[in-house]
Amino acid sequence: MGRQQDVATLIARLQTERLVTLVGTGGVGKSRLAERAAGLLPPDAFESVHWAPLWSLGSRSLLTALVADACGLSDHSSRDPVDALTAWIGSRRILLILDSCEHLIGECAKLLGALLAACPALVVLATSREQLGVAGERAVRVDPLAPDSDALELLTERAAAAGVRWENAEDRVAAAEVCHWLEGLPLAVELAAAQLPERSVRGMARLLSDRLALAEQPDSTVQPSRHRVLRTTIGWSHELCEPTERLLWARLSVFRSDAALDEVVRVCRGGPLTDELVDEAIAGLRRKNLVTVHGDRLRMLDTVREYGAMWLSELGEAGALADRHAEHFDAVAAAADREWWGPDQAAAYTRLSDSHEDLCAALEHFLATDPPRAATLAGNLGFFWACCGYLHEAGHYLEECMLVAEAPASVLAKLCWSLGVVRCLRGEYQEAAGLAERTRTEALRAADETLLADAAYLQGLLMLLRGEPQEAMRTADRALARPHATPAAAARCRLVRVFALTASGSVQSARVEAEAL
Ligand SMILES: Nc1ncnc2c1ncn2[C@@H]1O[C@H](COP(=O)(O)OP(=O)(O)OP(=O)(O)O)[C@@H](O)[C@H]1O
Ligand SMILES: [Mg+2]
Repeated sequence: MGRQQDVATLIARLQTERLVTLVGTGGVGKSRLAERAAGLLPPDAFESVHWAPLWSLGSRSLLTALVADACGLSDHSSRDPVDALTAWIGSRRILLILDSCEHLIGECAKLLGALLAACPALVVLATSREQLGVAGERAVRVDPLAPDSDALELLTERAAAAGVRWENAEDRVAAAEVCHWLEGLPLAVELAAAQLPERSVRGMARLLSDRLALAEQPDSTVQPSRHRVLRTTIGWSHELCEPTERLLWARLSVFRSDAALDEVVRVCRGGPLTDELVDEAIAGLRRKNLVTVHGDRLRMLDTVREYGAMWLSELGEAGALADRHAEHFDAVAAAADREWWGPDQAAAYTRLSDSHEDLCAALEHFLATDPPRAATLAGNLGFFWACCGYLHEAGHYLEECMLVAEAPASVLAKLCWSLGVVRCLRGEYQEAAGLAERTRTEALRAADETLLADAAYLQGLLMLLRGEPQEAMRTADRALARPHATPAAAARCRLVRVFALTASGSVQSARVEAEAL
């Protein structure tokens, strides 16, 4: 709605500036403006455009990894991640969009400083509630919509979508007043529109004038008025919710990214929220514009989520929900680990990559509350991460988990094995060999045949990389002679055999064994 001029100006700026930051209050439309401008760029403006949403970032130290993921860069080296990213961008003319930088201003400033200095044609568009403070940054303030034109049009359109039309001139005047009180803030207008089926536009104008005029009183001078407007409308939406909707809103805030509908039920049910009531509450939250559905996933805007999180801790449920969320994703990872080597691998892959931010959140929660469990989870994710281009995340979390002293031998074995695979892929063969040996020792201690076979697989791989195919073959064969490893672990050892046969020139036998895999 509106913003044609803002979009045109932004597109022009992106062709002359290196770093443009859209700055403005929550819900004013920064992300939407960035998205719109990116969608309307002339086709030859950039080689490619990469969108990195920072809200859900688990650990500050993973910022560079997230940006690299957004660029589709899968770095298999032990280089510093910033060096790898600068090398990849090089002199390409690409547009990098960092959405929601306000949580990580210092980290973003540092990374962007390095990238912009090293990559002469890189252009960055950031959205943030505050300026980043990087040299050469062009901050563009995003203002709300004009209350008497674009905001009024937005309210009228959204009201019509909710089945409400202005009946007469008084309604139209009241609608204009509502927009005036809401200062044209798009998110506030959207939330207000969703309340109109339950409250007349005139009643709403009256209420807003009461509340916001009241809020002009002494202690409210601390907060800028737009925050107040937003708090008022979100608070209002909250009051209009059924108790079960409020509870679900609070509990939903525990998710770090769009939540699959079946996962919402699993994580958020409990107490007064039966499965059926979760579905009803989702429908209610959708009607109130508090969540939107994309495919089979629920999306909640950051500002709305922040309010939910605040409410969740007021309810005293924050810890319990974080436990439940982490337990759920722990189970998702364990199931994917089992299914990885089978017909459901593609589904397991999709689930894990769609849940990436939530899996990281679960890991961090366990690292803080139940470290041995973090170690189990990281061990289950390690191979997936290594295979699917999340080497930095894998290295980061697996190393943190290695510091967990009291994990059982089987957990330690899996952790060592996963980290060994990561190190091997990064070309750090000596460290990988040490980890393979430790996997073997821990697997023996745990009497775990599968992990023993996996240790052999890693050792075999390393032997192949050192140019010792016969040794690799013997190691794989010794492991295969033991009967009780899982078919997946045995298959990995058979894969080592295939590589060893190929490397020894027995291509025909390698082919036969590969086909039998
Ligand atoms: N010009 C517009 N026309 C219609 N709807 C808009 C417009 N601008 C924003 N909105 C809607 O208002 C809501 C808030 O916008 P958006 O998420 O872009 O805000 P933001 O400034 O990025 O907020 P935050 O600081 O919380 O990230 C969204 O639902 C968005 O679709
Ligand atoms: Mg935003």
